[in-house]
Amino acid sequence: NWSMENFIDTEINRIRKLVGPTAEVIGAVSGGVDSTVGAKIMKEAIGDRFHAIYVDNGLMRLNETEKVYKTLTEGLGINLTVVDATDLFLGKLKGVTDPEKKRKIIGNNFIHVFEAEAAKIKPADGQEIEYLLQGTLYPDVIESISFKGPSQTIKTHHNVGGLLEDMKLKLIEPLRELFKDEVRHLGELLGVPEDLVWRHPFPGPGLAIRILGEVTREQLRIAREADNIFIEEIVNAGIYRNISQAFAALLPVKSVGVMGDQRTYEQVIALRAIETVDFMTADWYVFEAAFLKKVASRIVNEVDGVARVTYDITSKPPATVEWE
Ligand code: XMP
Repeated sequence: NWSMENFIDTEINRIRKLVGPTAEVIGAVSGGVDSTVGAKIMKEAIGDRFHAIYVDNGLMRLNETEKVYKTLTEGLGINLTVVDATDLFLGKLKGVTDPEKKRKIIGNNFIHVFEAEAAKIKPADGQEIEYLLQGTLYPDVIESISFKGPSQTIKTHHNVGGLLEDMKLKLIEPLRELFKDEVRHLGELLGVPEDLVWRHPFPGPGLAIRILGEVTREQLRIAREADNIFIEEIVNAGIYRNISQAFAALLPVKSVGVMGDQRTYEQVIALRAIETVDFMTADWYVFEAAFLKKVASRIVNEVDGVARVTYDITSKPPATVEWE
């Protein structure tokens, strides 16, 4: 009879058999629930013969890379390499404002950096790396079967697709039969910390698609600080799990404000928070007025460079969840 405990044992045995006693496996981790749970199950199955690689593209949220590193290594014992590719990504993004161009640049460079790092790993048995872990879920399996028509105007979601051909790696997909809530349950059983298990999704292109216009270090600072305040207040209000996804977007327009007796002329933050089942459609989240008031006041007062805060009250469709 099927239970998650049985699933873990079965899956670990399947992985051990598949990989054999010496072969090694690589996988990209992002700090999200899917890649972390996938990495943890690999760690349980083959220990340090699983190599996790985290590419810091410089587009992560406030202190995110440090937190992910700590949780995955100290907390979960995963053999993890962090690559700081901030300069590379920000260099390539210089002057770029088109959303799809941003996604392409980030996706392509992610693959380059990941490959270069993977090439440095020399397995103890003298062989090449043989397998690649992917955190594919059941809905992704369905989506890739049914969404092939050219009429589908979906954004270019970045995955590690091209890698497979180049490196001749075989795939391991331990989560491919599971839905998101099952992955969360699995994560809990495997000892993945609760805040990570329940984390909102975060897009591969990171803050680059939440900073409209050019991505610069200064824009990143503003977006990070504002986002951090918003999420902090959501957590403090005890409503994080009622919301499917929440973030701050930074708009590249300036607006007049007044601070003390000074006129200010600074940028605008748009808060976005949604409830959804499948992210194909979404409703905006109804906050209490006092909550929004507090967040707006904190952001304008604490974040240099912001004069105004707005709340996005558009559903999906017609709007998307992200602003780009
Ligand atoms: P949209 O904006 O398309 O977002 O309504 C739906 C969900 O997908 C996430 N998203 C992305 N995830 N790469 C990703 O890995 C992307 O390019 C990307 N674009 C959107 C978004 O955060 C939301 O959860």
